[in-house]
Amino acid sequence: MYKSYDLRILSIFVLLCGVARSQLTVDFYSTSCPNLLALVRREVKNAIRNEMRMAASLLRLHFHDCFVNGCDGSVLLDGSDGEKFAAPNLNSARGFEVIDAIKSAVESACPNIVSCADILTIAARDSVLLSGGPSWKVLLGRRDGLVSNQTGANLSLPSPFESLDAIIAKFAAVGLNTTDVVALSGGHTIGLSRCAFFSDRLSNFSGTGAPDSTLDSSLIPDLQAACPANSDGNNTVALDVTSRDLFDNHYFVNLVNGRGILQSDQSLFSSDLALSTTKNIAQLYSNNSAVFFGDFVNSMIKMGSISPLTGSNGEIRKNCRVVNS
Ligand code: HEM
Ligand SMILES: *[C@@H]1O[C@H](CO)[C@@H](O)[C@H](O)[C@H]1NC(C)=O
Ligand SMILES: *[C@@H]1O[C@H](CO)[C@@H](O)[C@H](O)[C@H]1NC(C)=O
Ligand SMILES: *[C@@H]1O[C@H](CO)[C@@H](O)[C@H](O)[C@H]1NC(C)=O
Ligand SMILES: *[C@@H]1O[C@H](CO)[C@@H](O)[C@H](O)[C@H]1NC(C)=O
Ligand SMILES: *[C@@H]1O[C@H](CO)[C@@H](O)[C@H](O)[C@H]1NC(C)=O
Ligand SMILES: *[C@@H]1O[C@H](CO)[C@@H](O)[C@H](O)[C@H]1NC(C)=O
Repeated sequence: MYKSYDLRILSIFVLLCGVARSQLTVDFYSTSCPNLLALVRREVKNAIRNEMRMAASLLRLHFHDCFVNGCDGSVLLDGSDGEKFAAPNLNSARGFEVIDAIKSAVESACPNIVSCADILTIAARDSVLLSGGPSWKVLLGRRDGLVSNQTGANLSLPSPFESLDAIIAKFAAVGLNTTDVVALSGGHTIGLSRCAFFSDRLSNFSGTGAPDSTLDSSLIPDLQAACPANSDGNNTVALDVTSRDLFDNHYFVNLVNGRGILQSDQSLFSSDLALSTTKNIAQLYSNNSAVFFGDFVNSMIKMGSISPLTGSNGEIRKNCRVVNS
């Protein structure tokens, strides 16, 4: 008797927690800013028409926002002590002017209503769709954070030099599992990387006297030509060597062929740990883009739901670069 009563209390508690966690809704602005989705789509289209790479940059910005203090627009805040100057973002994160342009269009239509964190989430979805990828309904209702956490960005964002083990741990720390690691890494089907992040693989990898043995040797001359030994590491190559601007499953086909650019990419398929964690998933995605697209959507919604500020927490920032005064 007591037992079943306890169980009922427990299940009500679990239910309440579930509700509290899913305060984000697809129709959050449908009466307060009915044109929001169309406005964001129009601005992202303009930005991509100007520079196709911007789709990749906006997708990455959303990822870098969500992994640090949750999806709260903290990556957008200016200041040399903030996330923009953290190691993973410095001279790397881009797209801030596009977010400014979207915010300004949205403020004209619906002043003080829509958060920068939500704008970035919608822009990331539109970037994937406009690059040929899947679409989905975006959950909305995030509010903007009051701090930009440089320590958090340094500690929480994955590095391309880290082991798969460490990367899986960083995703787990924000509630994402190994399926999410593989699916979201598929974001590297678009965009560029600077040579500084992979040129160590091209010769004398880890002091072995030879290139990274998991890298397809026929790709090495091209990468060496793109990254001459005496250049400063700022030259760029496509993360997906076969279709750089198209959101497709070629990133995974590349991994199967030893053509992942970052060591962290190739480790999803080639490392020892991959055998028991990520390899089968990467192989499945390489064979089946519909499964990849479905899982990517599921993982993007999960990533977009990391620790949102809701209710009266945080604020609706007027300018995405500064907290309201
Ligand atoms: C799994 C761990 C990950 C690591 C180690 C990693 C690392 C990197 C690195 C080093 C770059 C190149 C940056 C530069 O050259 O300045 C990059 C670019 C990029 N990343 Fe990741 N990333 C990871 C996961 C993700 C996720 C989860 C997404 C999104 C879902 C993502 C989306 C992108 C995109 C789109 C670019 C290209 C950006 C551009 O061209 O502006 N990455 N990533
Ligand atoms: C973050 O990392 C960068 C680069 O390593 C370093 O200069 C900066 O001091 C770090 N910031 C904090 C708050 O630890
Ligand atoms: C910054 O991030 C670290 C690591 O996640 C966390 O422990 C800390 O509480 C955060 N600081 C602020 C001010 O949010
Ligand atoms: C990861 O979580 C998803 C639910 O979001 C689940 O469908 C999937 O099976 C999980 N993957 C692993 C490896 O646990
Ligand atoms: C490779 O690097 C190691 C350690 O950094 C060094 O001792 C070795 O001489 C290098 N080998 C070549 C062929 O450059
Ligand atoms: C790349 O360019 C930035 C300025 O945009 C510069 O500060 C940096 O030293 C250059 N080199 C590397 C390896 O990042
Ligand atoms: C899946 O991909 C692997 C490696 O690319 C290939 O060997 C295998 O035949 C494919 N399986 C199916 C069912 O297509």
